[in-house]
Amino acid sequence: MNQAYKGTPFDLTGRVVLISGATGLLGKEFALAAASAGAHLVMGDLNISKLESLKSEIASASPDTQTWVQVLDVTDADSCRSIAQLCEARFNRIDAVVHSAAIDPKFEQGSDTSRFSKFTELPRELWEASLDVNLTGAFLFAQATCKVMEKSGKGSVIFLGSNYGLVGPDQRIYKKAGQEHQTYKPAVYSVCKAGLLGLTKFLAAYYMNTSIRINMLTPSGVWNQHDDEFANNYSSRTILGRMSEKNEYRGAIIFLASDASSYMTGANLVIDGGWTAL
Ligand SMILES: NC(=O)c1ccc[n+]([C@@H]2O[C@H](COP(=O)([O-])OP(=O)(O)OC[C@H]3O[C@@H](n4cnc5c(N)ncnc54)[C@H](O)[C@@H]3O)[C@@H](O)[C@H]2O)c1
Repeated sequence: MNQAYKGTPFDLTGRVVLISGATGLLGKEFALAAASAGAHLVMGDLNISKLESLKSEIASASPDTQTWVQVLDVTDADSCRSIAQLCEARFNRIDAVVHSAAIDPKFEQGSDTSRFSKFTELPRELWEASLDVNLTGAFLFAQATCKVMEKSGKGSVIFLGSNYGLVGPDQRIYKKAGQEHQTYKPAVYSVCKAGLLGLTKFLAAYYMNTSIRINMLTPSGVWNQHDDEFANNYSSRTILGRMSEKNEYRGAIIFLASDASSYMTGANLVIDGGWTAL
């Protein structure tokens, strides 16, 4: 039973939450969080076996949650429409959308950072692929899901930003001792996240005088097996002196998806350990 939020404004009992990029590091946390507050889930991502295994995990953690999974490619308008239609067919509505799908260049141990070269050498195909998933994908996914929300005139859409959409990446933290060629967080990531904030504000304003609310959640560096050098470099740039844990955004996603944030739209909830306040 999901009782922790029962009877509070954070209660998601019976609400339908659609999550893109659901099997990602944070996507999975968002799914577990929404289920823990009582939501039913429709989850999309590129890999069906990862989706099925997440579905099993949610069934163990939150047995009252109804969970549907479907392969989703956010760069494909038909695929976006199809998962929105799945929500309608099963539940007749979408209460909240968490748009977590992204190409997010990672720097944890084992990541292939060879393509994260100097700005002047950034491959055009990486630029275009990122724009396609991170911006065009957000546009297509929002089109498909807002169309369903328009029928009820209410719902909450949550885009995922980054501290690097608000300030430029501090490239010093990507420099490793003894490394001949430095790697860089690519320009296109900042461009996409800044663009998503624009889409957040555009859509919030567009849905004026409705109860369709559009907000952004801005996480920052989540620890995921990073080496000590990187983790220390990153941590030194934050006020809290550490990277975040992946479960530290669970409360925020429940807040944004639920009635607890009912007077919030066009806003950006920044959870970055103080990175952008320094
Ligand atoms: N992890 C972090 O440190 C961090 C920090 C700040 C912001 N963010 C943002 O939070 C969000 C979630 O991050 P994450 O750590 O879970 O990222 P992740 O890379 O672990 O997961 C992203 C997911 O998106 C999916 N995806 C990629 N292309 C897709 C497509 N075309 N269609 C459908 N799904 C697709 C991937 O398969 C993956 O499961 C992202 O928008 C990311 O940019 C993450």
